[in-house]
Amino acid sequence: MNQQNVTETVSQSNSVLTSLEQFKSWAKENGFIYPSSEIYGGFAAVYDYGHYGILLKNNIQRLWEKSMVQEREDVYLLDSGIFMHPKTWVASGHVGGFEDVLVEDKKTHKRFRADHLVEEWFEKHGKSVDMDKKTAAELSELIKANNIKSPDGNELTEPRSFNLLVKSNMGTTDASFNNENVTYLRGETCQGIYLEYKNFRDTLRPKLPFGIAQVGKAFRNEIVARQFIFRTREFEQMEMQYFHNPKDKEKLFDMWKNERMNWLVNVLGISSENLRFKKHEKLVFYATAAFDIEYNFKTLGGFKELEGIHDRGDYDLTQHSKFSGEKLDYFDQESGERFTPHIMETSVGLNRLLMMVLEEGWVVEEIVNAKGEKDKRIVLKIKPELSPIKIAILPLSRKIELQTKAKEVLNILKGTYQTQYDETASIGKRYRRQDEIGTPYCLTVDFDSLTDNSVTVRDRDTMKQERIEISQLKDYFKLKL
Ligand code: GAP
Repeated sequence: MNQQNVTETVSQSNSVLTSLEQFKSWAKENGFIYPSSEIYGGFAAVYDYGHYGILLKNNIQRLWEKSMVQEREDVYLLDSGIFMHPKTWVASGHVGGFEDVLVEDKKTHKRFRADHLVEEWFEKHGKSVDMDKKTAAELSELIKANNIKSPDGNELTEPRSFNLLVKSNMGTTDASFNNENVTYLRGETCQGIYLEYKNFRDTLRPKLPFGIAQVGKAFRNEIVARQFIFRTREFEQMEMQYFHNPKDKEKLFDMWKNERMNWLVNVLGISSENLRFKKHEKLVFYATAAFDIEYNFKTLGGFKELEGIHDRGDYDLTQHSKFSGEKLDYFDQESGERFTPHIMETSVGLNRLLMMVLEEGWVVEEIVNAKGEKDKRIVLKIKPELSPIKIAILPLSRKIELQTKAKEVLNILKGTYQTQYDETASIGKRYRRQDEIGTPYCLTVDFDSLTDNSVTVRDRDTMKQERIEISQLKDYFKLKL
C-alpha cells in the first residue's frame, strides 16, 4: 500500500469564525484579502484581493451572471462607465439625499454613524428600536432621551447629515459641468443602467418586461467602515434592473424575491437558517417597497443586510427624463398603452457575498491523520463551483521523476480547471494548505505512479482517497466537477 492510501478521518467538526480580527488575519494569511496600502500604514476601509480572493470572487460573479442572464431570455448585460455626467447624480436624488447621519466624540473627535451607536445602545440594554432611515432630528432625540455616549464614554456632537457620494474632479471643457468640474464616482451601478435604457430599447428592441444587469465598482464615503469587507468605501455591486408594466408589480416582486433567495441557497449552497427576509417599513428615497435578504454574519454579531430587492416604481426613468429632456416612456403595441416603465431592482454586494461564503464554509475539524495521530485542520467547505482552486497536483517528493510525472498530469488538467502545482513541504502540510483554501481535490503523484500510471485522488470533505488512472482523470473530473 502506498503512503497516501492511509486515509485521514474526522473525529469532530466544530468551531466557526467568530471574531472579525480572526477572520481578517486568516483571510490575509491565506492569500484571499489584504488591507490596502499596508506598507504606508494602511488605508481605512479599502481592501485588496489576492489570488484566491479574486478566483473566488470571479466564481461568484460568474454564477450570478449565469442565473441572472445566461439562463434567462429577458436580461442583458451592460458595463457602463464609473464616471457619468454629473447631472445623473442630481437627477437620481443622490446629490440632495444620499446621506448618513454622523456624530463625533467631543473629546477624541472620532466619528460614528449615529444610527449604529443608537442601535448598539438599544441592543446592549435589551431594548428594541426600529432603526429604518432615521433622520438627524430623530436620532438626536434618541441620543438625548437615553443619554447615549460615544464608545469611549464621552459626549457626542449634535447629529448631522453627511453626503455619501465620492467627489472627483475631471478636467473637461463641457460647459454643462459646473464651475469646479466636480463629478462623482458612481455611488451605485444601476444609474448607468438607467442612462443606457434608451440605447437598449433602440438597439435590442426588447419587449417589457426585460432586465439589464451590471457588475462593477461603486464608491461611497462611508462614515465608519470598520466591518472588514462588509462595508468599504470602494466595493463591487451586482445589480439588475427589471423594467416592467406596473400592473405586473406584485407578481414580479414575489418572483425576484424567490429567485434571489433560491440562488443563495441552491447555487451558493448557503444554509437557509442563516438567511432571512427583512421588510423595510421606512423607505429610502427612490423605493416604493423594499426587502433585504439578510445573512447571519457571526463575525458581525448577527443578521445583516446582504442584498436589496427594491420596487423603485417609475422614480428613476421619470427623474432622468425630466433632467435630460429625453422621452424614456414605452409604447405597448398590443394594448396601445404609453407609460413610463417601472423598475424592480435586485442589488447585491459581491464583496459581502464573498464574506458570507467564507464565513459559511470555514470549519475547524479534529482529525486523525495518516500517521494515526490526533490533528486539527481548518477546511473551507464551499461548493466546488466556488473553490478558487479545483485540483491541486502534488508530487510526493521533489524527485525529478515525480516532478516530471506531476507536470504531465498538470498539463492534462490545467486547460480545463483552475489547478495548482505544489511541491513544497510535507504531503500532510500541503493537504492542510489546500483544505484551508477549499480545494475539493488533491492529486498525489507517487513512485507507484511511475509504473501504474495512476495517481491518488483525495476528497477534501471526506479525506477519502482513491487510485485513478491518469488517462481516466479528465472523465473522472467531468463527473465530479
Ligand atoms: N442600487 C441600490 C443600492 O445600491 P443599497 O442597499 O445601498 O442599494 C445594495 O446597496 C447592496 O450593495 C447592499 O445590500 C450591499 O450588499 C452592497 N453595499 C452597499 N454599500 C456597501 C459598502 N459600503 N460596502 C460593501 N457593500 C456595500
